[in-house]
Amino acid sequence: MISIIGSGRVGTSIAFLCVSNALDDILLVNRDEGKAIGESLDVSNAIPSTSKFSITGTSDYSKIIGSDIVVITASMGVYLNDRTENMVSQTTMIKEIAQKIKQYCPTAIVLLISNPLDILTYFFQKETSFSRFKVFGIASSLDTSRFRYLLSEKFSVPQSSVDGALVLGEHGDSMVPIFSRVKIGGKSLTSLLNDDEQASITNAVRNYWKDLRHYKSRSQFGIAKNAFDVIDSIVNNREFSVPVSVVLQGEYGENDVAMGVPVLINSSGISKILDIVLDDSESLLLQKSSQRIHDQINSI
Ligand code: LAC
Repeated sequence: MISIIGSGRVGTSIAFLCVSNALDDILLVNRDEGKAIGESLDVSNAIPSTSKFSITGTSDYSKIIGSDIVVITASMGVYLNDRTENMVSQTTMIKEIAQKIKQYCPTAIVLLISNPLDILTYFFQKETSFSRFKVFGIASSLDTSRFRYLLSEKFSVPQSSVDGALVLGEHGDSMVPIFSRVKIGGKSLTSLLNDDEQASITNAVRNYWKDLRHYKSRSQFGIAKNAFDVIDSIVNNREFSVPVSVVLQGEYGENDVAMGVPVLINSSGISKILDIVLDDSESLLLQKSSQRIHDQINSI
């Protein structure tokens, strides 16, 4: 069973993908039980006739007992300019949720989606003392999707011609698009863009969510698909290479902080944190990103 804490747009979109792909039984948990039940009644109509799985909604945390995976999308409020705006209330919330998950399904793999992503991943892992390889935040893959999309638009090529796009670090203003590994139609991206163009794409990736909010209140489908791909790789034990936020213990020279780094996922969670080569300026930006998350953690 997969339990999804929070049944707003993101939680229900993840549920929809899991249900329509007949991945596993889904439990939607929401403080407002009526909301959880209503969404599950709606999503249940997307269950394929060949599926052996179902979906239910509840406000009762004890029903998460037996979950193999718990996905946290809950949020205490809306942030407008920075994902860290509600950092204190979100951290209090995540510690409460952490205690419940520790009580009811201490062996589950936990995926965090709520913001501020890296900070909540850090505090969840500290609060539960779960293995850091079973607690990780999904967002750098969303940032990577945005980077790849912006590059495909800029060069008027399909996304399938953009190889090696990757965004690491904070899911926030200091995130680091990695230009040095990208190839467009086989050509190195750094030979195709000058410094100003790189800076402009970096800004566009970092501000994508705000630009989107000029037209739509919140992003929904990109994060849902990126979360689904990770869930699918866990459920089906399909080795999957993806950047996620994880508490670091020496990797990339960082300690006691969670941020987006490339990993391999399988049915046990993170099977390996990948050590990839970055150029000097990217390594420096990653250090700065980590410092920003450290400072936020220490400010709580
Ligand atoms: C975004 C939210 C999910 O980047 O953080 O759209």
